[in-house]
Parts: sequence; C-alpha cells; structure tokens
Amino acid sequence: MSAAPPAARLPRHLAVIMDGNGRWAERRQRPRTLGHRAGAKAVQVCVDYCLDRGIEALTLFAFSSENWNRPQEEVGALMKLFLRMLDSEVDELHRRGVRVAFIGERAQFPEAIRTRMAQAEAAAPAQPRLVLTIAAGYGGRWDIAQACRHLAAEAAAGRLDPDHIDEALVGRHVGLADLPAPDLFIRTGGDLRISNFLLWQLAYTELWFTETLWPDLDRTVLDAALADFADRERRFGLTSAQVAGSNA
Ligand code: FPP
Repeated sequence: MSAAPPAARLPRHLAVIMDGNGRWAERRQRPRTLGHRAGAKAVQVCVDYCLDRGIEALTLFAFSSENWNRPQEEVGALMKLFLRMLDSEVDELHRRGVRVAFIGERAQFPEAIRTRMAQAEAAAPAQPRLVLTIAAGYGGRWDIAQACRHLAAEAAAGRLDPDHIDEALVGRHVGLADLPAPDLFIRTGGDLRISNFLLWQLAYTELWFTETLWPDLDRTVLDAALADFADRERRFGLTSAQVAGSNA
C-alpha cells in the first residue's frame, strides 16, 4: 500500500460521481452496459480503499433522477445490475462492517429492488467501519424539494413554527443527515460539474476531478485525490490566520 496522508488530513466522508462507464465500453466497441458491469467492479475497488484508509463514509452516485430518461434498454440493464449487486454483495459488505444505505426517490424502482434496499438497510452492522450510501433515483434538487415538502407539511399541521426553519433544521431533512458533510468530492470521466448531486451537502466540500474513466479507477487515482485533499486549506469562510489559530 502507498504512503497515506496523516489521519487528520484524511477525508471522513467521500462523495463520488462515477462517470465514464459508457465511454469506457464505447472505446472498446462494446455495448454501454458492459461499461456499467466494469463500473460495478470499480465500486469494489473504492469500497476496499475506504476500508483500508479508515474513511468513515462513502456516498456513490449510482443513478440520477435524470437517468430514468436514458434508453429503456440501458435503464433495464442497470436495474438488472443493481439487483444482482444487491443480491451478491450486501451480505459480504455487512460481514466486513459496512452499513449500506440509500438516498433518492425509490417509488420508480422495481419492487424487487425496493425490497432489497429495505432489507439491506434493516440488517446494518451496529458499529459500522464504513457507511456506504448509494444515491439511486437521486437528484440534489429533488432532495431539497422533499425536505421543503416535509417541513411545509409539519408547519401546516401546526407542529412547526416557520420562523424555526433554519439551516440546521433543513440539513436534518435532506439526505445524509446522520453523517458529517462530505469532505471530498471526486468525479471521474473528465467533466467539470456537479450534475445535480448533493447540492445542499457539498456547500464546503473540496472538489477533485479526474479524466480517468470510472471502470479504470484504481488506488493510484484515489491516492492522488487524497494527497491533493491533504494539501488544501479548508477555511469555511474564515481567514487563513483564523484557521491557523484554531489549529495551534
Ligand atoms: C455514469 O456513467 C454511470 C452510471 C449512470 C451508472 C453507475 C453504475 C455503476 C457504477 C454500477 C453499479 C453501481 C452500484 C453502486 C449499484 P455514464 O454511463 O454516464 O458514462 P459516460 O459519461 O461515459 O456515457
């Protein structure tokens, strides 16, 4: 294993857009679905890496709200792959101390997938080494809208004073509310955008982009992201002098 940054400089929570599966397959003149299958193997690489490094939370963007509009054949192949992964991986993840959770709108998923999502969440290890959250049917705007809907319903029922709605309360109603905010965001595949991922939660997250296509992900790429993260000064709106003072 390569030299790791000191623990204080490690992200506690890593959020990833796994992009480039389609291009990986197309470059090989193979169907896009083969790229997604290769992408599933890269998920294992990433989970193993987080466990080895002691990263506490990993959130993966597996399927966006907008991905439902892809060709039916590709959506169908992705559903089959999700189902197969849920069947083949979850028990082993639990055995290794990984809690599995999902964020996103589940209603559109086939019942077999929704059932397995619920089973995977219910059987969580008590003291997880890693929380793996799969964003599926997820969009950052959807997430903020569902939090608004929930809070508006509470206010309409007289259980919540609208004047008490603040950032902390909204933060408790969006996805990942029980986790520290992502420290580091990684996007593979070369595009420099957030694509409606965790819009609320990424407010102070460090962003890191790589041309590497998701199925080509390896430890060298993740080491490079972590090394870059370790060199950054996170100020959260403060001055450098204030940050240095709080670290003294
Ligand atoms: C984006 O690449 C990837 C997806 C839409 C699907 C991601 C799915 C996996 C990695 C496999 C299953 C993983 C889990 C966690 C269940 P793209 O198709 O947009 O690639 P492109 O930009 O090259 O076309």
